[in-house]
Amino acid sequence: MSLEDNLSKILIVDFGSQFTQLIARKIREFGIYCEITSHKKIKNHINFHKNIKGIVLSGGPLNVYENNKVKFNSKILKLGIPILGICFGHQIISKELGGRVKNSKYREFGLAEVEEVKKSILTKNFFLKGKNNVWMSHADQVTKLPKNFHVIAKSKNSKLCIIENLEKKFFGIQFHPEVSHTNKGKQILKNFVFSICRIKRNWSSVDQKEKLINEVRNLIGDSKVICALSGGVDSSVVAKLLSNAIGKKLTCIFVNTGLLRKNEEIQVVNTFKKRFKINLIYVNAENIFLKKLKNVTDPEKKRKIIGNLFIKIFEKYAKKIKNVKFLAQGTLYPDLIESKSVTGSQTSKIKSHHNVGGLPKKMNLKLVEPLKYLFKDEVRKLGLELGLNKEIISRHPFPGPGLAIRMPGKITKEKIKILKEADNYFIQSLKNNNLYDKIWQAYAALLPVKTVGVMGDNRTYEYLCLLRAITSEDGMTADFYQFNKSYIQSISNKIVNNIKGINRVVYDITSKPPSTIELE
Ligand code: XMP
Repeated sequence: MSLEDNLSKILIVDFGSQFTQLIARKIREFGIYCEITSHKKIKNHINFHKNIKGIVLSGGPLNVYENNKVKFNSKILKLGIPILGICFGHQIISKELGGRVKNSKYREFGLAEVEEVKKSILTKNFFLKGKNNVWMSHADQVTKLPKNFHVIAKSKNSKLCIIENLEKKFFGIQFHPEVSHTNKGKQILKNFVFSICRIKRNWSSVDQKEKLINEVRNLIGDSKVICALSGGVDSSVVAKLLSNAIGKKLTCIFVNTGLLRKNEEIQVVNTFKKRFKINLIYVNAENIFLKKLKNVTDPEKKRKIIGNLFIKIFEKYAKKIKNVKFLAQGTLYPDLIESKSVTGSQTSKIKSHHNVGGLPKKMNLKLVEPLKYLFKDEVRKLGLELGLNKEIISRHPFPGPGLAIRMPGKITKEKIKILKEADNYFIQSLKNNNLYDKIWQAYAALLPVKTVGVMGDNRTYEYLCLLRAITSEDGMTADFYQFNKSYIQSISNKIVNNIKGINRVVYDITSKPPSTIELE
């Protein structure tokens, strides 16, 4: 079934590409509503196709002839709807329409040059002097043109790199226009959406605000709602949206685990209780968490203890509020997309304990998830519309288990105190130097080793602080951020000189994969 039945939309059919969500985000940025569906579920959409103005077939890791794994519903070719196939999508549409796909002699991964062969509505304003640099990632290629198609562009290793059947409005491209490395890739998606599908702008965070507030108000009626507030972007936006919609019928519960960033609890209470006058129950559970985590060093055990305890505490306080019928959660669209890749691995992110899984069943609560059609960047825009300040909205992601997983080994009060200070120094410095918004996530960690140093005439024997700063699109892959030498050196000096307990700083230069963003 469709998420937004009444809106005109672009349907993106996912064949398991790691870039599928990028296609959707780019199209939404144009102000157009779009949805992602698995290739196995196209049938559900075909029955309700009157609002589908265009279809994009994503890339994917398979070969088009693996019939047992690839479900291609050829009915979509008969709906009279424009289709754009990207990479695997290009290959499968070519195969279905009488072309041929073969394993390439030369695989193309990375940048490649494409050359214009014929003008096309799809590539208007894309080429510069007939050429462009694009991002390729393929081992197979189309070797025989489907019937009634023309070649629009070629590359060295892919003679049928862009193809079209203008009459049917079917297009295929071998490279990835959705990836930022493709120069002017957005132009191709724009041309497809506006000039070929002729869909009108119908999606903005301003429209969303009023619409979501009305929907929530109608859904909740006179009932009461509870919401687990973490201070992060998603739960903050949910809380503010609900407060605008239902006022005092909302109660937020904020559990201070003692593992938050420096002064985070003060900021949450000041913003939500004092400024927005939201019913907020503040639970200081620092000592309980610390006690339960005493001497625990195994990362998975830490996570389990924190998750379970969080739910227990939340439940205890939630039960005190009478007549609650709903639990509000900050579920986002990427959590919702049943985007299991065709090879079986899950492409969407694992949910944190902040999406208090398990609770509704036990407590008999219905879920209200007002952000479930939105991507993170859309949630941020909505948050600003709702009057949340930029500091909350542009905050780097923070894991549910908090500082516990940035402190390998035992968790102690002393170590938490040192780590909070070091992290605060690092983050404040990034903000003061206009670097914070250029970095997707940054933090300090405290490693469970002490090393020798010398300060003045004294020998020191203190902890090692690790700094991590990464760039990323969605947290699934990441690169380390390249600071200039004098800047990172000044941070190291400041931390060592100002924070008692640290006498050495290292900078993590591993990417993800093979490392993860967090340490545990
Ligand atoms: P990793 O370490 O898996 O992290 O590369 C990817 C992103 O997820 C965040 N993360 C979490 N977020 N609960 C959360 O809400 C968690 O348990 C959790 N573990 C990791 C991490 O901060 C990064 O942004």
